[in-house]
Amino acid sequence: MNISVVGTGYVGLVTGVSLSEIGHHVTCLDIDKEKVAKLLRGESPIYEPGIEEMMRQNIENGHLHFTSDYKEACEKVEALYIAVGTPEKEDGTADLRFVEAVVQSVASNIKAPLTVITKSTVPVGTNDKIQALFYEQAEVPVHVVSNPEFLREGSAIHDTFYGDRIIIGADNEEAGDVVALINKAFGIPIFRTDCRSAEMIKYASNAFLATKISYINEISNLCEFTNANVEDVAKGMGMDKRIGANFLNAGIGYGGSCFPKDTSALLRQAENQGMAFPLMNSIITTNAMQQLKLIDKAEARFGSLKDKKVAVLGLAFKPNTDDMRAAPSIPVTERLVLDGATVNVYDPIAMDAAKNVLPKAITYTNTMKECIENAEIIFILTEWKDIVADLLPLIKENGKRVALFDGRNCYGYQELKDVDMEYYSIGRPGLTAKLETVHQ
Ligand code: UDX
Repeated sequence: MNISVVGTGYVGLVTGVSLSEIGHHVTCLDIDKEKVAKLLRGESPIYEPGIEEMMRQNIENGHLHFTSDYKEACEKVEALYIAVGTPEKEDGTADLRFVEAVVQSVASNIKAPLTVITKSTVPVGTNDKIQALFYEQAEVPVHVVSNPEFLREGSAIHDTFYGDRIIIGADNEEAGDVVALINKAFGIPIFRTDCRSAEMIKYASNAFLATKISYINEISNLCEFTNANVEDVAKGMGMDKRIGANFLNAGIGYGGSCFPKDTSALLRQAENQGMAFPLMNSIITTNAMQQLKLIDKAEARFGSLKDKKVAVLGLAFKPNTDDMRAAPSIPVTERLVLDGATVNVYDPIAMDAAKNVLPKAITYTNTMKECIENAEIIFILTEWKDIVADLLPLIKENGKRVALFDGRNCYGYQELKDVDMEYYSIGRPGLTAKLETVHQ
């Protein structure tokens, strides 16, 4: 099928490349000409394992093309994906400016009936609005279908080919059939519903995962008062199939481009309908508090952090990405600077992206060794494999007694017992106490 994808951000690019891989002829459009030039050279603007090889292969075999020209993208198109950003506005609602601009450009360039597929996460009811805009602006029939994505950054290609389900929300049966046909080759279960329910499935799923995380984080805080171990608690809970073991890792809260934005948008959507949603409110508040958990712990241990030499390891919101959106490293470094600490930071991939969003008064170091060299306090904010593997040997080699505040529960007793340092983690007070007796 001839397919166009508008927007070559995370979602658009992964969608376009994956659709070309299963044999469709795909044109990806982005208004950013520099980005398109880069893409045409087979260079991916996002850090995503496997994407560049797949891109290059499909550019070479003629299945994948990039352009900035709407005329070209609309020429022989049978189905067109909208995958542009829907950023959060100051009031927490989704900003639909980019989606509306796409509708206008597509409507004025298409010559034949078209199925439009919305990948962007949009508030419930938005596809109806998009449908109405096409009705007003296009001279040929357009049917809008909601087909939300469930891709995790860092495993987006994998998730596209091995996802749990494909949701197709269509109020027009035939347009829904088109989207089902496009996706058939992925061999993933398809669930079909109406447009509004599909939109809601996306928000409700992300908000539920955020709920699991905030819930286990609250439980981890209670574990600290009651001397229980949150890892074992999560394991025991997760063995119940009704609960499930995933997304029960306690830590310093969720970040990224989806959970914070989608929980706020869902809350705002409820409030705009005059409905209170206290649960969602609490999930968001809990997460904001949890992001500063390591600061709370360090202050409880040292009193003031003024003039303390602090190393912050891992800046991206999670490993295997350079994405700094809503990363816990932002509020953590802001607080450290405000408290007068001397702050070194290190991340294997996200250093350039971090420079745009972290406070000015911090030092970016080239290696982890350099980052921790003179540190009295070390924070782990992201569980990068290399950070986890190399840190303890480096601390030993350094020979300086530090306090390590591990926001991702990266280590167990066996690895820690031979390293002479103070160790604090999330929801595992027994581990800290046991290590104290060993290191006294
Ligand atoms: C998420 C959803 O998983 C995906 O389906 C959706 O389409 C986009 O949002 P992503 O933002 O890439 O994907 O990251 P994910 O791997 O889900 O992690 C989100 C955040 O939750 C990270 O900050 C991570 O550190 C945190 N997290 C995750 C936890 O704190 N504990 C967990 O158990 C799982």
